[in-house]
Amino acid sequence: MSKASVVLGCFYGDEGKGRTTDYLAQFADVSVRATGGNNAGHTINVNGVKFAMRLIPSGILSNKTIAVIGNGVVLNPEVLIGEIEMLKSHGIDVDKYLKISNKAHVIFPYHSSLDVMLENKRKHKIGTTKNGIGPAYCDKYERSGIRMEDMYKDNFEEVLRHQISVKNELLVAAGEPVCDADEIVAKYKEYAERLKMYVCDTVTLLHKYLKEDKYMVVEGAQATLLDIDFGSYPFVTSSNPTIGGILTGTGLSARDIGDVYGVIKAYSSRVGEGPYVTELKDEIGDRIRELGHEYGTVTKRPRRCGWLDLVTLKYAIDLNGVNYINLNHLDTIGRFDTFKACVAYEVNGVETTDFSTNEEFLNNAKPVYKEFKGAFGDVAKCKTYEELPKEAREYIEFIEEYTDTKVKLIGTGADRENMIVRD
Ligand code: IMO
Ligand code: MG
Repeated sequence: MSKASVVLGCFYGDEGKGRTTDYLAQFADVSVRATGGNNAGHTINVNGVKFAMRLIPSGILSNKTIAVIGNGVVLNPEVLIGEIEMLKSHGIDVDKYLKISNKAHVIFPYHSSLDVMLENKRKHKIGTTKNGIGPAYCDKYERSGIRMEDMYKDNFEEVLRHQISVKNELLVAAGEPVCDADEIVAKYKEYAERLKMYVCDTVTLLHKYLKEDKYMVVEGAQATLLDIDFGSYPFVTSSNPTIGGILTGTGLSARDIGDVYGVIKAYSSRVGEGPYVTELKDEIGDRIRELGHEYGTVTKRPRRCGWLDLVTLKYAIDLNGVNYINLNHLDTIGRFDTFKACVAYEVNGVETTDFSTNEEFLNNAKPVYKEFKGAFGDVAKCKTYEELPKEAREYIEFIEEYTDTKVKLIGTGADRENMIVRD
């Protein structure tokens, strides 16, 4: 029986997880999304075409890999249908490859309205993507959520109208515009019909695939420090993008997990609010943003940028059981003559390499940096690790030594082929 490889973000998102999945999809029979929703934005360049994937696992781009949206995902049907159409227009056989969990919770317009309303009322803004992710997960755990399979039940309209009226009461009380029940009901009945052919029991299906020895890759969304339990709460998303969420979001067991790929950039970034120890609020941060094109795939927001934080990385590795690192944007960091990485924190005069998501700890932590030589030249043309300049290899080997984890995949440019794979 085969095991699933897992791809996870080690920081605050946007590490290039889609690229890792896209690479592994060459060998994969099945790719799976476990958590999150269209708050994710995974950019993959294939033959000069830029794909911005939000819900469907990037593996589908290989046009030979089954793509499964797992039960842990909160699904906006309108966005999904848009993504299906976009993929079809590029010749991807979506009807053949896409499977959607019958237990995935559906995002309705009132979720987005509540997301906006709640964010407006927050004293300390989170900077959510306003896609209704948090409110949809709230409904799931409050047990009033509507799942994909519920849209095919006789009482769907009745249940939906009830939910709309409950949510409209909240919106009225907050002085926000209410949702139009007739419009939502009509739209979602149509969405349900359009998506029906993809909906199935993906838990049974995934286990069947493993028994058939199919190679499976689970594409994480969001990232370790955005995890509702293990991230910088409350500046997090409303799901568990860490290894536990991969299991509960798919129905795979711990026994089914093989390699865990932790994805990082050669520097770091964060969108939205919250602590960020290595953030550079200066011209160096601006330069990283411009060189690395660090603007949100979904919201187009400029990302906060800084040096790589190895203290955080070690935490992410331990938490997720990462056994391979995928380091992206080596080309970007190599454009600096010199650059830094954080090797310890100084907290109230004491140096430590122990991480904690305690807000006070993070707000007081000052990064202790090690400097590296840059000016790598054109690493995008390097096809093997040995071809990389000595300075680039020194940086990579330092990361490996610090984390005791192998850097197996190295992103050297934006295109699919700009990826060095080490044995
Ligand atoms: P990918 O998969 C970066 C951030 C938002 C916000 C917080 C909560 O592309 O790495 P939410 O809408 O989820 O309630 O917002 O989480 N966030 C992300 N940041 N990449 C993502 O996904 C993110 N998904 C959510 O910016 O700070
Ligand atoms: Mg993103």
